[in-house]
Amino acid sequence: MDSEKLYLPVPDLKVTDLLNWQKEEERQHRHLVHRNLNELSVSLDSQQPQAHSHKKCFGNSVTINDETVALFRIGDEVYATQAKCPHAGGPLYLADLEELVPGQVCLKCPWHKWTFSIDSGCSIKPAGRGLVAKTYPVRVNQEGHIYIGFDSFGPSAFEM
Ligand code: FES
Repeated sequence: MDSEKLYLPVPDLKVTDLLNWQKEEERQHRHLVHRNLNELSVSLDSQQPQAHSHKKCFGNSVTINDETVALFRIGDEVYATQAKCPHAGGPLYLADLEELVPGQVCLKCPWHKWTFSIDSGCSIKPAGRGLVAKTYPVRVNQEGHIYIGFDSFGPSAFEM
């Protein structure tokens, strides 16, 4: 946990609103719905990630502090990455979660299936590409409210 960060609350979303990838029944439910989301994702504008959340996929997209952030839940942990894929701007918040090796969960982008570490954001497959999805530290309080850590306030905080 990084105490130097500026932690801002995610409005209107608690940890219990996120599907938990660790729960088998939630994975099954999610796969049924994901077919429809794949159809949806091809129509998304690649230049402009949609600031929407969908309760039926693992990732939720939230716009906070002028950044669009994808949130994923694994057990009691919440992970945050940039919502837009660093490869070609695909909707990383609609990513599949996969355990490539035990203990290493990755995001699999729905567009070209590149995988990124959910911890570090580093690209894993294809190997050797060296792309990194931005990641954010996350705190969850006892009431389940989610806080995302930023380096500083975004530009809109200084607008008059
Ligand atoms: S846009 Fe995500 S893998 Fe290509």
